[in-house]
Amino acid sequence: MPENNRTKLLIARRVPNAVASRAVSEFRAYVTESDMDAWSVVDFCKKHDVPAVLIGKKSGLQEDHIAALPSTVKIIANASAGVDHMNVAFALERGIVVTNAPDALTECTADFSMLLVLAACRRASEYERIMRSGWGKSFGMTEMLGTRVNGKTLGIVGFGRIGRAVAKRAQAFGMKVAYTDIQRASPALENGAMFYPSLEELLPHSQVLTLHVPGGGTPLMTKKEFGLLPEGAVFVNAARGALVNEDALYEALTSGHLFGAGLDVYRNEPHVDVRFAGLQNVFLTPHMASATIETRDQMGFTALDNIAAVLDGQKALNPV
Ligand code: DGY
Repeated sequence: MPENNRTKLLIARRVPNAVASRAVSEFRAYVTESDMDAWSVVDFCKKHDVPAVLIGKKSGLQEDHIAALPSTVKIIANASAGVDHMNVAFALERGIVVTNAPDALTECTADFSMLLVLAACRRASEYERIMRSGWGKSFGMTEMLGTRVNGKTLGIVGFGRIGRAVAKRAQAFGMKVAYTDIQRASPALENGAMFYPSLEELLPHSQVLTLHVPGGGTPLMTKKEFGLLPEGAVFVNAARGALVNEDALYEALTSGHLFGAGLDVYRNEPHVDVRFAGLQNVFLTPHMASATIETRDQMGFTALDNIAAVLDGQKALNPV
């Protein structure tokens, strides 16, 4: 850690250069070159008495790690929206502020969710593979047809920032929007979307369904919920793999009940259930919904802003 008068900070995950430069100019920062695991974070904090740590998924601090942190640690900042990789409740109990970066990734995650909707509806994965293997056969009027998004209803589970940003995009593609959430949004936020008070009520109306709720707990989408979707529905998940029972999803995809799926997140990341890789009707991406240069910079800057505020004695900007 470089010696100067500024406050110490541990950047425990690999961050974009712009974020690292800012960290080094504003703090007495140690910036890791590769993502640190949780015990390495604990050891570092003990050795250097740092008051602030920026972590990511790989350094997911659980109860025993947090218990072992020195009392110098005042804030754990996550450069992500999701914080399911750490035990937030235990950190808060210990008086450590936990923050996330909820706004930074809204637009890019919504773009990507729409990409999954379009790719799954329009068989992008199959078309791409055909081209890469040389094509060589024109398709007739009835062959390799996708399903139209215009005029269909997009069911959104979770009408927070990302859910609402997806709704806007879907409306621009001529889709109707329906949603469910713990409570109904104001008419201004709803912007014409139809509210259903429960997932069970939303599902039968969702020709395309997309999830935008935090992960954790029991899966939302099991055999029963997939069964409630209309025949030929498309399922999209750029939220968290833990929300889905993957056996049930696989069955719904192979039985023909679902037309297809667009998936960016999986239960056992960074591994994908290989059965999905064998299916034609799924479009698969490796948890990249927020992965743009601009958004990743913004996610890191948000974490630094939170750290600066808390170490300055102010309230966190994005407390969890
Ligand atoms: C998030 O920030 O939660 C995204 O899923 C990226 O990890």
